[in-house]
Amino acid sequence: MTRKILVTSALPYANGAIHLGHLVEYIQTDIWTRFQKMRGHECWFVCADDTHGTPIMLRAEKEGVTPEQLIARVHAEHSRDFAGFHVAFDNYHTTHSEETRHYAEDIFGKLKAAGLIEVRSIEQYYDPVKNMFLPDRFIKGECPKCGTKDQYGDACESCGAAYAPTDLKNPYSAVSGAQPVLKSSDHYFFKLSDPRCQEFLRRATREVCKAQPEAINKLQEWLGAPGENKLTDWDISRDAPYFGFEIPGAPGKFFYVWLDAPIGYMGSFKNFCAKKGLDFDEFWGKGSQAELYHFIGKDILYFHALFWPAELEFAGYRTPTSVFAHGFLTVDGAKMSKSRGTFITAESYLAQGLNPEWLRYYFAAKLNGTMEDIDLNLEDFTQRVNSDLVGKYINIASRAAGFVAKRFEGKLLHSHLNERFQAELPGIMEAAEEIAALYEARDSARALRRVMALADQINQYVDKNQPWTLAKQEGQEAKLHEVCSLLINAFRLLTIYLKPVLPKLPPAHLINAYEHLMQRIDPKQIDALIAANRESLEPAVAQAAAAAAAVAPAPTSSAPHSPQRHAQHQQATEDKTQGQAMPAAQHISIDDFGKVDLRVARIADAQHVEGADKLIRLTLDIGEGGTRNVFAGIKSAYDPAQLVGRLTVMVANLAPRKMKFGMSEGMVLAASDADGKSPGLFLLSPDSGAQPGMKVK
Ligand code: 2FM
Ligand code: ZN
Repeated sequence: MTRKILVTSALPYANGAIHLGHLVEYIQTDIWTRFQKMRGHECWFVCADDTHGTPIMLRAEKEGVTPEQLIARVHAEHSRDFAGFHVAFDNYHTTHSEETRHYAEDIFGKLKAAGLIEVRSIEQYYDPVKNMFLPDRFIKGECPKCGTKDQYGDACESCGAAYAPTDLKNPYSAVSGAQPVLKSSDHYFFKLSDPRCQEFLRRATREVCKAQPEAINKLQEWLGAPGENKLTDWDISRDAPYFGFEIPGAPGKFFYVWLDAPIGYMGSFKNFCAKKGLDFDEFWGKGSQAELYHFIGKDILYFHALFWPAELEFAGYRTPTSVFAHGFLTVDGAKMSKSRGTFITAESYLAQGLNPEWLRYYFAAKLNGTMEDIDLNLEDFTQRVNSDLVGKYINIASRAAGFVAKRFEGKLLHSHLNERFQAELPGIMEAAEEIAALYEARDSARALRRVMALADQINQYVDKNQPWTLAKQEGQEAKLHEVCSLLINAFRLLTIYLKPVLPKLPPAHLINAYEHLMQRIDPKQIDALIAANRESLEPAVAQAAAAAAAVAPAPTSSAPHSPQRHAQHQQATEDKTQGQAMPAAQHISIDDFGKVDLRVARIADAQHVEGADKLIRLTLDIGEGGTRNVFAGIKSAYDPAQLVGRLTVMVANLAPRKMKFGMSEGMVLAASDADGKSPGLFLLSPDSGAQPGMKVK
């Protein structure tokens, strides 16, 4: 059955560059939508710039341009960056659009008609020099709890206390520096405390979060126990001066940016419908049969799981099928930091000549559909991309394509392909449905592990059949053709399995002219990337002011305090935990590491050991270092006959150990789960080309 699916990623603010933290989500969503399209479903992926609010207004003023000019420039930059990472929106619009205005007014009008909008006077800090009310994050002062200076109006970065801006001691405006005064003004509220909203949210939003138990727990916390009324009304208006949509019939009052941001999903889709001739109501109308998914960061779950479904419900639209929240990105185990050079923009990554598909692959290999944070470990990034993509996947094509081109005019043997797969590479074709189910569940990490296990299996077939040896032997022409044809077909299958993640890798024509499909990452490229993003530490005050100008609009005091959201904003500023990410005791020095003599070894012989349940006796050839006899506990995973001829890595300077069955003169390296009990033991292999005796360092 063909499904109708509408998918969104959160709308990025139009006052800053796309960075690697943002890309986690856009890449995750892009992989999922590409997968759905490959399955033949009608799937649309829309997004837009989130253009309204005080920070954007002030940023434009600072740059001496109009907000419209600023958002037009940023729209072009964002579009360029997304295209650079192959994030293929069907429509990338803006919230500053007639479509979004239309639905914002429509939803507001319907909520009002339903008796869910109330006007109330509230007292807030006002900047008497700038003549504007100040959002919490634009008021600074001393923390009421610990006294630390220059803290924001909602939470202290030093002691973590959360408070109201009026609690700050010696408050000042981060915009003008003036002392703010308290002033009253009328605000519009969406009455979430209304029993109808409470009842609806208790019943329906569990469904919206059903994919993620962690999200359900959060909801439970926000809603409180049955009978408890924990939700407070939501302040959805802001006073002029404000960059946004003026509320109809309320001069000088504007919709708060968070009211129209999700409505931007509708605006973007409406704009797309007009271009494509699609029926908007089929996707957004009450009773719609289409599926609607929002991919978001865990910091904005509150907006998407509570405010947004309630707005839609009481304005007569369908509600989301599900929201999918992901965690934050850390780089080398710590928050992205400008001084460490790990606050990396999309633009600078591409400018260094780094391949966007490397990052897509790495993020996909980490994303598992939960709200856990993910870490970009730069060393692991280099290693994993080089070993998985180049060493395992591309290696398959590079072993076979040249022979097909040179010896067989680029033609493949197609006869009995299925039977040959069954006989030589069982399971490779059948894995398709399992991999599809993993993509569907947004567990790309497991999907890719599965694909790499298939690549290992195919590489074993390469090693067993050695096309390069067949090519030198007389009378082996037919066998060579068969082996290479099967390999190219196996490579084609893996390419399909990887396609949602690596959409641009071109396997076409490779049989005619094999060229490197993908280069390895040179660690020097990563060093250059970090150097290009490293900024020297600025004085604290200048930094704080810059941060204030850069922060995105935060929920007001009537919305819940969201520490994660706060933490995410801090990514844009200097991070103070620098150098403290890992306790020193866990490190070893490079000299310590240098004491271990790791060598590439060829397994010259492998034998069962009489009377030993777990051991295989290996004779390891380490080139000029001669041969070593090693007893390895790998019998549960390997048949000795399989091992002969293959390369592995050994510790060559381990003190010889006398065992019951003889002397063991070293150790081979194998990977297993931490407990060592789960099935699966994997002998390490160097990429092809390594020679026995080479030092591993
Ligand atoms: O947190 C943010 O970056 C917001 N600009 C996300 C908005 S998502 C949606 F609601 F529009
Ligand atoms: Zn404090």
